[in-house]
Amino acid sequence: MAVQHFLTLNDLTAEQLRALLQRGIELKTLQRNGERYQPLQNRVLGMVFEKSSTRTRVSFEAGMAQFGGHAIFLSPRDTQLGRGEPIEDSARVLSRMCDAIMIRTFEHEKLERFAAHSRVPVINALTDQYHPCQLLADMQTWYEARGDMTGKTAAWIGDGNNMCHSYINAARQYGFRLRIAAPPGYLPDADVLARAGDRAVLVDSPAEAATAADLVVTDVWSSMGQEEEQGEREKVFADYQVNADLMALAAPDALFMHCLPAHRGEEVTAEVIDGPQSVVWDEAENRLHAQKALLEFLLT
Ligand code: CP
Ligand code: NVA
Repeated sequence: MAVQHFLTLNDLTAEQLRALLQRGIELKTLQRNGERYQPLQNRVLGMVFEKSSTRTRVSFEAGMAQFGGHAIFLSPRDTQLGRGEPIEDSARVLSRMCDAIMIRTFEHEKLERFAAHSRVPVINALTDQYHPCQLLADMQTWYEARGDMTGKTAAWIGDGNNMCHSYINAARQYGFRLRIAAPPGYLPDADVLARAGDRAVLVDSPAEAATAADLVVTDVWSSMGQEEEQGEREKVFADYQVNADLMALAAPDALFMHCLPAHRGEEVTAEVIDGPQSVVWDEAENRLHAQKALLEFLLT
């Protein structure tokens, strides 16, 4: 049987994603009640990080520890990956020693090559193209705060980046509408958008996206690997800030989300991210619970 990977949200069915969401909520309750649940005793997760991380690393590592297993942090700086060992060879070797492997890297195609040569499940922990683990947490957070998202509307404000692409996939898989306001030249990938059909549409302005939206989401203007474009991007995205005026256009009970790390005063004001509509801390915490549900699904 083919190995089940998690490279994008489209690797699972809508039903499987829904089941994971419910399981994430159950695992959160178990954890909060201090109940011990260790389905992954003696199991090992390899964690390859070619970019920085706080939430992703800690949530996977803590999750494996809570499940009775172990996680190994691998960076290119001190493994042979950084000295040019082919990704395919690394996949063959690591997957003979680990029970699952998560990777954060640049090109999505590199992750796909790794997965193609792995004997064990591979999890996308962010590529330039997608960040599906973050969406597991975001959907759990939205569901916990406001119930079922079917038929609701989310507004994406800003760069048509990896998070935007995963929101487009989520709109299709979880049954909500997504309105995207991104500046020309920074639109999401046309093929990714087309696959979502009428679930995800481009609109002309942040105001049009946000009006009556149930959820407003943004992300940094310069993602990891784009540091040199920061100055140029600050100019291009100047009108794409999520601030109180924009939130005022959304539904009265609209939520604000951001995958973090955030830059207050750039893509979001402090007033919004630290305000009552923001659920960013629950969203960050849910990385732990949602990914534990994912690990349990892939490994048991
Ligand atoms: N949101 C997120 O993936 O955060 P880290 O970069 O800290 O892992
Ligand atoms: N778009 C951001 C997300 C960070 C979690 C980046 O890729 O840097």
